[in-house]
Amino acid sequence: MAIPKTPFSVQVLLREDEIAVGFAAAFARRFLDEKFFYWLPASVSAWVQLMSAPEYRNANRALRLLAASVPELVGLWPGADTLCGLGCGEGSKDKILLEKFKHAARPLAYTAVDFSQSLLELALTAADGSALSLRGIKLDITLDGHLQALSGQGGSCIFATLGNTLGAFDPLRFPERLRRIMQPTDRALFDGEVFDRDTTLSGYDNPTNRRFAFGPLAALGLTEQDGELNFELRPGRQGIHEVAKYFVAGRDLELQIGATAMHLEKDEKVLMSSSIKYDEPVFFALIERGGFEVELRKKSKDGKFLLAAARPRC
Ligand SMILES: C[S@@+](CC[C@H](N)C(=O)[O-])C[C@H]1O[C@@H](n2cnc3c(N)ncnc32)[C@H](O)[C@@H]1O
Repeated sequence: MAIPKTPFSVQVLLREDEIAVGFAAAFARRFLDEKFFYWLPASVSAWVQLMSAPEYRNANRALRLLAASVPELVGLWPGADTLCGLGCGEGSKDKILLEKFKHAARPLAYTAVDFSQSLLELALTAADGSALSLRGIKLDITLDGHLQALSGQGGSCIFATLGNTLGAFDPLRFPERLRRIMQPTDRALFDGEVFDRDTTLSGYDNPTNRRFAFGPLAALGLTEQDGELNFELRPGRQGIHEVAKYFVAGRDLELQIGATAMHLEKDEKVLMSSSIKYDEPVFFALIERGGFEVELRKKSKDGKFLLAAARPRC
């Protein structure tokens, strides 16, 4: 692992012990929401592996689409001075923006924002040398008080929600929540995967993605012999679709989550957060409905990934 040349600090709005309590509570109600898939070491390494796995074409599509769009973004947003990566993950997409702005315009200050301390550290390490300054904020973006803490960064901040992350943050509500904390000079980037009844599930269901989805269960000592992990395509009615995920226990299981002992009966289900996909016009409409004017609409060469660059509507 690269050693950071520049030390950075991470502001903690959400403590590890709070996450641990939340994880046990999520397991008790048999629903693991999105954030827990990026928390424990097994999950972080599975995610990093997924990002570079050739069979996971989405990461590639998103990276290429972003790289191809940055020259237009630099022209569109010459006053941008800060990048705030929302759910930054290991930072590969934010790094593309930082590098291109540095070479074509000026280096941006970088704020990496995520739930996962490990991913924040990876993103900030990756951005070293590409940004004017580095800082991380560990938070739960679903909490309004935490989101509000991101307001007022620099003169013009680009808030980037990339890697199909809008779906994880609630595509119906997040654009408006973000819009409310933005200054008129700030800008926003969102990307999203286009739904395709014939290929979405097969593009998603591969061994590396299964290993990633199994991460939180693996951290509890479960193996694929303890039950079945299911991926199901669920077409929605209003242009928002999902790949649903759930685990079904193959036998009675005794689990230990920190100090809490838990019992999972044979055939019991543990639901997991879904991966959201969109009909193309709906993706852009969701952003407009959140109070934005979409300034740039881009699509990957194969038509399966979308990028929207937007400014707050006055
Ligand atoms: C689909 S990944 C995308 C990562 C990165 N943007 C990329 O494109 O590679 C979603 C990211 O959002 C973060 N995340 C999920 N739920 C979150 C929450 N409630 N608060 C903050 N971050 C969250 C995860 O830790 C993860 O890094």
